[in-house]
Amino acid sequence: MRTVRFGLIGCGLMGREFASAGARWCHLPEMDVRPEIVAICDKNEKMLCWFRNNFSTIGQVTDDYRELLANSEVEAVYIAIPHHLHEEFYCAAIRAGKHLMGEKPFGIDKAANEVINATIKKHPEVFVRCSSEFPFIPGLQRIGDMIEQKRFGTILEVNSGFLHCSDLDPNKPINWKRLVEYNGAYGCMGDLGMHPCHMPFRAGWYPKNVRAILSNVITERPDGKGNMVPCETWDNATLFCEAQDRDTQKSFPLTIKTQRIAPGEKDTWYFEVLGTQASVRFSTKNSNHLEVMEYSGGEQVWQKIDMGHETAFKSITGGIFEFGFSDAILQMWAAFLYELAHGALPKKFAGCITPEEVAYSHRLFAAALESHYNASTVAI
Ligand SMILES: NC(=O)c1ccc[n+]([C@@H]2O[C@H](COP(=O)([O-])OP(=O)(O)OC[C@H]3O[C@@H](n4cnc5c(N)ncnc54)[C@H](O)[C@@H]3O)[C@@H](O)[C@H]2O)c1
Repeated sequence: MRTVRFGLIGCGLMGREFASAGARWCHLPEMDVRPEIVAICDKNEKMLCWFRNNFSTIGQVTDDYRELLANSEVEAVYIAIPHHLHEEFYCAAIRAGKHLMGEKPFGIDKAANEVINATIKKHPEVFVRCSSEFPFIPGLQRIGDMIEQKRFGTILEVNSGFLHCSDLDPNKPINWKRLVEYNGAYGCMGDLGMHPCHMPFRAGWYPKNVRAILSNVITERPDGKGNMVPCETWDNATLFCEAQDRDTQKSFPLTIKTQRIAPGEKDTWYFEVLGTQASVRFSTKNSNHLEVMEYSGGEQVWQKIDMGHETAFKSITGGIFEFGFSDAILQMWAAFLYELAHGALPKKFAGCITPEEVAYSHRLFAAALESHYNASTVAI
């Protein structure tokens, strides 16, 4: 069993998810590589306590990421910090020779992402991927298999989205994800957008152009200290794209929705592919269900399949049992470590987002901003 010693920079929501996934690595009986957290970094001392209490392997605790990157014991880093810091921290990690799992959007804007990608190119010895757990849900894995088997025929339409609803509450206090300075001009696209891009991009379905409609519905929020402050990030974005299949060169409509104010949608990821020979619908609202319609003439009948625990990386959980968010995080980390150790994926849809896929998402989101401002269709 190979052990990859990790430094964790950013010990918030996602940092804890990674640590917890590593702590139950025994769930993955066929993995021949495992993570071990040996160093952690966060500016906020309060965030470190949970790690100190739960992980005896941590030898270094610091509030300065440069100290962590100078630690020769650290082979790889997971960086989960606000977007305005991605460029500086990711580039420093790559230059320090640490393998990197970075969080989306991988740079606060397209310019920052280009600097990160240029740094990656100069350091081919460093393995770099971006986090997105959505495709590891069994229903999505099954759709990925169907795409690889070319079961859809001619693609008619693809719809992919990520919807949240908590910002419908005007009294929800502002946080860094609602401030342009920290989250970026993309607003909800920067925060949510990489997720609904992952499946279509991995399928080779890339938008050629986009007409985007963005909305900032709630323009001020409480700051938690008794004041109202401006909230200038985009709450909702609907992207109408003309996509092209890189294999067949055929075009079809692709919609990508990222919304923070989608009534009743607590954390809904959906993906729908309509084709001449097969169609599928998946949503995390009923995450055990995959709806499939295969068509070869005759009656058109949608079937509902209970997916259970059909995972890319074998798990000890019984095949009939339901799959959840933290299972997707575990599978995603298995994919990162497997690809780091073996230099290849077990299958196409069992991989984290590549820097090339991330770069395309930045081209899409930058074009979406331009499209909205000019009320025009923008080529990508
Ligand atoms: N993959 C997913 O499903 C998913 C979900 C949520 C967030 N994210 C992404 O993860 C990243 C982090 O989001 P989060 O929700 O974990 O945020 P968070 O606010 O919960 O955690 C961020 C942490 O970074 C720390 N930090 C800030 N500045 C720092 C600095 N200079 N040095 C060291 N630490 C510093 C903060 O103290 C905080 O603990 C973002 O890029 C976000 O888009 C991904």
